[in-house]
Amino acid sequence: MKKNTAVYPGTFDPVTNGHLDIIERASGIFDKVIVTIALNSSKVPLFTKEERKSMIKEVINKYKNVEVDSFDGLLVNYAAKKKANTIIRGLRVLSDFEYEFQMSLTNRKLAPDINTIFLMPNEKYAYLNSSLVKELAKFKGQIKSFVPEPVRKKLEEKFR
Ligand code: COA
Repeated sequence: MKKNTAVYPGTFDPVTNGHLDIIERASGIFDKVIVTIALNSSKVPLFTKEERKSMIKEVINKYKNVEVDSFDGLLVNYAAKKKANTIIRGLRVLSDFEYEFQMSLTNRKLAPDINTIFLMPNEKYAYLNSSLVKELAKFKGQIKSFVPEPVRKKLEEKFR
């Protein structure tokens, strides 16, 4: 039987409860989900690839069909290499739409067999992003409700 594999790409600097919400939903839909860290992003990450990977690994432990990886280059090439027919993206608020629309149509043009599926996180995470969490951590704000416990510890260590 054909396995339905999905890739969930992002910068994950660091992974937040909002990402985790999407991972949990995807894990219930697909046979296999690969959370994959984009390395050639224009963003300058706070955490190294290894740190981001290890934080994700800790928080996906309970999902048996979810794994973590990283990639360089085009996402569709990576997805094809992994035999994934779906790209997962989270859609939080209307302002996400234009960028996601452009990305998903470009990816479709490049690889017509790979579809992008959008999942909506719980509304309590609708405004969340990694930059916000980093900013809060930097100025010793409360981040407990935004990130999983291992990520909270890592962030606090980073800004100690
Ligand atoms: N909960 C919380 N935050 C979320 C979220 C969710 N469910 N979904 C997205 N975010 C946040 C992220 O934390 C991130 O915050 P930040 O900007 O503060 O770092 C922000 O929203 C952007 O989301 P992210 O998922 O990290 O996407 P990205 O824009 O950093 O990455 C790639 C987009 C990596 C998927 C895209 O650039 C890519 O595919 N690159 C590879 C090259 C390629 O193929 N290019 C052609 C694409 S058309």
